[in-house]
Amino acid sequence: MKVIFIGDIVGSMGREMVIDYLSRLKRKYQADVIIANGENAASGRGITKAIYHDLLHAGVDVITMGNHTWDQKEIFDFIDEVDYLIRPANFSEQAPGKGMTTITKNGVTLSVINLHGRTFLPPHDDPFTKADELVEEALNLSPLVFVDFHAEATSEKIAMGWHLDGKASVVVGTHTHVQTADDRILPGGTAYLTDAGMTGPYDEILGMRKEDVLYRFHTNLPTRFEVPKKGRPQLNGLFVELDDKTGKALKIERIRINEDHPFIN
Ligand SMILES: [Fe+2]
Ligand SMILES: [Fe+2]
Repeated sequence: MKVIFIGDIVGSMGREMVIDYLSRLKRKYQADVIIANGENAASGRGITKAIYHDLLHAGVDVITMGNHTWDQKEIFDFIDEVDYLIRPANFSEQAPGKGMTTITKNGVTLSVINLHGRTFLPPHDDPFTKADELVEEALNLSPLVFVDFHAEATSEKIAMGWHLDGKASVVVGTHTHVQTADDRILPGGTAYLTDAGMTGPYDEILGMRKEDVLYRFHTNLPTRFEVPKKGRPQLNGLFVELDDKTGKALKIERIRINEDHPFIN
């Protein structure tokens, strides 16, 4: 199975990049499954039902979330109705939604798990224990298991990579919005990347208008961050090829599209 993962989609520019490039990326990589992090898809804050359907219509199969999961209040009304939107599994037991889903393409089933870090982030349940529980459950269905670990600290993400090496097929980080260059296949066969990077404005600060962010850094005064709708865009993500029988990664390649690094067929 060939899988493309798209890092945090930020605002309308991010959504437009997905629409513009997804069919070209699918063709280039012969991808079977597309997973995308959508926690910033609605103006940088959460996701709406309309955007969920737009992204699925554009060709995304599964959407993962993160610390911005609840930013759009309407998510409470639809998260339990939709099959392919997951939020971090180590949120409260009381939280609506689910942290794992499965997708079957050409007779091959992939489980997708979303987890949330807790270093420099709110104190959710232990993501490592939750990862063990869910991976064990997933492996009963299929050896192919994809994990989006939404976390701030590089060390916590690398720790998750090693924790799941040989158990999950892929551990990819999201949340920092900056792609790291440490893509590798760990000795047990797990494809690993600390952060996939973001999809949206290229010339701003993590997707937010740079003037707003600079003002806050200068003054420490409360500022509302806006996501620009115009400007140069970028798309960042990851491609992995997995062995359908063993679930182990065969190939890993970072995806990075912007004006300095144009898309090559
Ligand atoms: Fe994000
Ligand atoms: Fe985040």
